[in-house]
Amino acid sequence: MQSEPGIVTQPSPIARQDVLGLRASKIREVANAGMGREDVLAFWFGEPDEVTPAFIRQAGIDALNAGATFYTHNLGIPELRQAIAAYLTRLHGPVDLDRIAVTSSGMSALMLTTQALIAPGDRVVAVTPLWPNLVEIPKILGAQVTCVELTFGPAGWTLDVDRLLRALTPATRAVYINSPNNPTGWTLGAADQRAILAHCRRHGIWIVADDAYERLYFEGAGVGDAAPSFLDLAGPEDRVVSTNTFSKTWLMTGWRLGWIVAPQALMPDLGKLIEYNTSCAPVFVQRAGVVAVTEGDVVIAHTAERLRLARDFLHARLQQIPGIEAAVAPGAMYAFFRVAGVADSLAFCKRLVAEAGLGLAPGIAFGPEGEGFVRWCFAASEARLADGVGRLRQHLARRETAPAT
Ligand SMILES: Cc1ncc(COP(=O)(O)O)c(C=O)c1O
Repeated sequence: MQSEPGIVTQPSPIARQDVLGLRASKIREVANAGMGREDVLAFWFGEPDEVTPAFIRQAGIDALNAGATFYTHNLGIPELRQAIAAYLTRLHGPVDLDRIAVTSSGMSALMLTTQALIAPGDRVVAVTPLWPNLVEIPKILGAQVTCVELTFGPAGWTLDVDRLLRALTPATRAVYINSPNNPTGWTLGAADQRAILAHCRRHGIWIVADDAYERLYFEGAGVGDAAPSFLDLAGPEDRVVSTNTFSKTWLMTGWRLGWIVAPQALMPDLGKLIEYNTSCAPVFVQRAGVVAVTEGDVVIAHTAERLRLARDFLHARLQQIPGIEAAVAPGAMYAFFRVAGVADSLAFCKRLVAEAGLGLAPGIAFGPEGEGFVRWCFAASEARLADGVGRLRQHLARRETAPAT
């Protein structure tokens, strides 16, 4: 196209550098290859396969029928903030309502927290392999993200805490930890949390704890017991932010509801950020959230037990396949296992979809240390899991005679 005289040629109409540099989701890349194919058994996304329980759906319907269609306070309706505060107090000790902000999803809770804390050029540390969103969100805000890798061995996924502490230099602004972890299921113990908290207190480093899977923890004394949390240890003034979501605990992924627990001093600023992001979570969704949080323990017990059984079932079956190295995940809803001979997990997962009709997420989607692994969301029935394992076994057996991917 010829430019008109006197008009300066503009650069291409594209996004700013930090956004251009974001990784596109490799889970999506595999899913896009198989979407719409009825014959594909998909375990690639992290989503429970059960619909939100009727009594929670009914609370949303009732709220809509009662005309709950207006804006609310930025930080959420008081009933929900109070219900979340009471719920967390039950799990972790005293948490006041004035430290709770209701958000439009766990994802939004993480974005808001990052907007509140992270400036361009800030150093952020993340424990990986990790759900890619948690590494990319700080980058949107211009942060430099350093990863400290978990290691995989006979004891499953473990963290070298001293290595993490060495990475948490005084110049570090925040550390992002997701425990129980997506994709590995790795769960940080209380002693390690204590050491990390003491170190971060010393250097003024923020801890951003993504507690999305805290109720999907299988090593507690009772079914549905919460995983160890920084909220068990931190005081109200500590630089600790816990983000959470209704998605997994109460089977509410599509509702988009979550929350933040933060020091009270952060709340007015979080309120401003919510105003400029979403203004508030939908009120009828918040009303359903009140019912979930106050009456939903039975849902949690059911889900945690069902997932524990699914985890054990899948693990036992995977163990029988030659070339697969898997560990039992203490929490979350994924098996993250190594497949012998797989050097390119993205190519492997694409072939798995195309040739076996099996949809798994490539380990590389969760960071370079995930290469050679695949993630399988086990929130599914035993029949589906068994069918999937059969397809994997056959594919690997066929692959024995074909060139490695
Ligand atoms: C580790 C982790 N954190 C947070 C979320 C956010 O959940 P949502 O945005 O559905 O509330 C997810 C969802 O997959 C997750 O895996």
